[in-house]
Amino acid sequence: MNDRSIAQILVGIDSNTVLSGARQIKTKLITELSRQGLSEEVKVIETGSIGPTNQGVVLGVFPGGELYANITEDEVEEFIQERFVKGRTYKKRLLAETLPEELRLQEYDSRKTQYYGRIVLDNCGRINPEDITEYIGVGGYEALGYVLKEKSPQEIISIVQDSGLRGRGGAGFPTGLKWSFTFREKRYPKYVICNADEGEPGTFKDRLIMEGDPHKIIEAMAIAGYAVEAETGYIYIRGEYKLSLERLQKAIAQAKEMGFLGNNIFGSDFNFDLQLKIGAGSYVCGEETALLSSLEGYRGEPRLKPPYPAQYGLKQQPTLINNVETLANIPAIILNGSQWFRHFGTENMPGTKVYTVLGHINRPGLIEVPIGITLREIIYDYAGGISSGKFKMAQIGGTAGDILPEQLLDVPLECQSLQELGHNLGSGALLIMNGTVSVADFLRSCMKFFVHESCGKCSVCRIGTSYLYEACDRLNRKEGYVDELKNMKDIATTLKLTAFCPLGQSVAQPVLSALKYFEEELKEGSNPNKKGKLPTREKSEGVFYYS
Ligand SMILES: Cc1cc2nc3c(=O)[nH]c(=O)nc-3n(C[C@H](O)[C@H](O)[C@H](O)COP(=O)(O)O)c2cc1C
Repeated sequence: MNDRSIAQILVGIDSNTVLSGARQIKTKLITELSRQGLSEEVKVIETGSIGPTNQGVVLGVFPGGELYANITEDEVEEFIQERFVKGRTYKKRLLAETLPEELRLQEYDSRKTQYYGRIVLDNCGRINPEDITEYIGVGGYEALGYVLKEKSPQEIISIVQDSGLRGRGGAGFPTGLKWSFTFREKRYPKYVICNADEGEPGTFKDRLIMEGDPHKIIEAMAIAGYAVEAETGYIYIRGEYKLSLERLQKAIAQAKEMGFLGNNIFGSDFNFDLQLKIGAGSYVCGEETALLSSLEGYRGEPRLKPPYPAQYGLKQQPTLINNVETLANIPAIILNGSQWFRHFGTENMPGTKVYTVLGHINRPGLIEVPIGITLREIIYDYAGGISSGKFKMAQIGGTAGDILPEQLLDVPLECQSLQELGHNLGSGALLIMNGTVSVADFLRSCMKFFVHESCGKCSVCRIGTSYLYEACDRLNRKEGYVDELKNMKDIATTLKLTAFCPLGQSVAQPVLSALKYFEEELKEGSNPNKKGKLPTREKSEGVFYYS
């Protein structure tokens, strides 16, 4: 940022706001400031997502931190006149007078005796993601320099282990432990992979992290490479993520030019190179072993585990695979220490969680909150409450996630509390629904997704997902078989216990949780006079049509 300027306008440019004309607004702001002779005093800075996702183009004005939303090109002249010539807030498009709590940096809340604020998203919406000097200006690449000069790989792994960081890609596996497994293997070369496939419907946190702060992922991968003794990294990124891809490409080129990637980084004998690999839009390729097959050029089908990627991963070599958000925690943990990280979140699951909050709420968007806060807090304190009607249910963790009823609004969102109830935190999507949504209809749409995405390799998943789709469709039309719910439970349980990979196993989550909490409503879709039967291997209604 330019020191001579007295104010900065941050334009949140991400995949959502680009569609609302953010780039045009940015150009218009620059031209208009110049026309009004204010170019030296007010700087326009491109940044990543500022947070809200249903507010058109979002602008942040600093110092002060007011947020403006839904601003149009025609209003830019008036906005500059009001805000920077007359020095008044531009009321017409004001979204918040000061930076909302969820956008602030780390601070301590004495009422709740907890640390709040952003770790993963601290630079998103604040720095220009396309300019490496801005990342360096906020302490970027310091953690990499520190570990290369002062720490051994084992020491880094201990820091990550002590921090209690768990994977944010869905399974919640302890990150330091995973790193130690890859370190222990002494077959070279080894690889580090960032899983940026993010195919879970409703989840787009990784996209916004990569768009807003691509250098943080590069730095974290280099640290991970040093810790597990790998010299090559891959970012396996979803093909549709054009802006993430562009920004990562630029960031990698800049990091190479500045010597943060390549040979003898920071004058050490550590070499690390990074490549982007573009996925072709298959959901199952986010599953780590299917991802490996895809990366090797084979059909993206899952492999049997064990062996785990830490032992036999890419090209059968030891491989570390971590999610984007998991990695984005690493530089801060290295710089601030593992005990600092434990001030956030819960004992079992320290840190923060980035969520994309969607559905019938007033302020959908991207938030980062301490792990362990409840769904009720998220809906009413961060997402502005229910937009119409009354809360009915929420699906947590994407389409493969559990469907929770009102009585679970106060359960802490963290792995242990949820696991005690048989649920998972999942990938970070929170879909909030009011009374207008029918459970059968919603489940039907979830199952349609799985029918489409099942890779077909194992028959339990291929046939089971189709059967469940048809069952939900019948219930939705009030033509369900008399024993429909029992059959659904049997099939979902069979998938959970016997499907070849976690895709098939996870199909059970939405079905079993809906059956548990919304049985009465689902029953209304059954017709007592209609007898049906379970699918057999030879024949089941429409199963092969969908596969
Ligand atoms: C069907 C399916 C899709 C998945 N998609 C993703 C994904 O897009 N991104 C991701 O990080 N993990 C995804 N996972 C989880 C990965 O298999 C793996 O657990 C994760 O990348 C590990 O990283 P973490 O330990 O940092 O969470 C998926 C799992 C399944 C079963």
